[in-house]
Amino acid sequence: MLKGKHLIDPSDFTRDEFRELFDLAHQIVKNPEKFNKSCEGKILATLFYEPSTRTRFSFEAAMLRLGGSIIGFSEPNSSSVAKGESIADTIRTIECYADIAVMRHPKEGAPRVATQWLNAMPLINAGDGGHQHPTQTLTDILTVELLKGNVENKVYGFCGDLKFGRTVHSFIKFLSKYEGVKLILISPEELRVPEYIREEVIKKNNVPCIEADKMEPYMGEMDFLYMTRVQRERFFNEEDYIRLKDRFILDKEKMKFAGPETYILHPLPRVNEISIEVDEDPRAQYFQQAKNGMYVRMALILKLLGIY
Ligand code: NCD
Repeated sequence: MLKGKHLIDPSDFTRDEFRELFDLAHQIVKNPEKFNKSCEGKILATLFYEPSTRTRFSFEAAMLRLGGSIIGFSEPNSSSVAKGESIADTIRTIECYADIAVMRHPKEGAPRVATQWLNAMPLINAGDGGHQHPTQTLTDILTVELLKGNVENKVYGFCGDLKFGRTVHSFIKFLSKYEGVKLILISPEELRVPEYIREEVIKKNNVPCIEADKMEPYMGEMDFLYMTRVQRERFFNEEDYIRLKDRFILDKEKMKFAGPETYILHPLPRVNEISIEVDEDPRAQYFQQAKNGMYVRMALILKLLGIY
């Protein structure tokens, strides 16, 4: 069902398609070795026009663990992009060499535009500006399912930069299609979720939602608290960034307000928003979450290539 599709936005897949993907991801988590030759002879290209650690490495590790190979750039200045090549020409060229590609780009919509130039190669959006980051959502959802069984009937807290945080936008877009989801959105006034998320995603799907500027009163009822960093690179001026960057810091003291099974997630990289003392708390799940990202990307590659 998913063979040959692109994943640019969470709405590109149906609920059934996501189910199919997560079922395979669970099989991979249980027995990753079983899949270690599944992609022999296949090539994944990673086109990163913006910095990344987890997303690029987890895609590359995923392909290598499937027995496939990788090509790509993480520093566009080392490719023909530095000579002024357009995305259209780059992507058409990549299709000559690779079976599947992953793109991260600072401009919103760039990966969607790139799909216009493709014939058969699936393209995956690994983050476009402050817009969407659907494979981080796959990582987040697999983590939720592994910790609590399913996504339905849960309270999800989001804290930090909800305006520019693309992982937040994709996660909320996904969750809004599921029953019994409640959202608690905690941010400074200036960094609240964009209007289109509030109106076209949250309100349109009748998702119960509270917007607040304190986390302590709500932490006890949360199943998950998704912390995010303030997205410095998307600010227009440095003063605003400095004023807002340390507004919410989750430390040991604040963790006392969380429930015994309130799990802490973070897409990473972390800056200051979670003190390192919290890492020892069994409810801190962000490093396990990063690992799950590799498994779910293995499942995504297999599905889009039509191998499983
Ligand atoms: C996020 C991203 O790039 O949007 N990181 C990630 O992919 N794991 C979050 C961030 O940069 O803050």
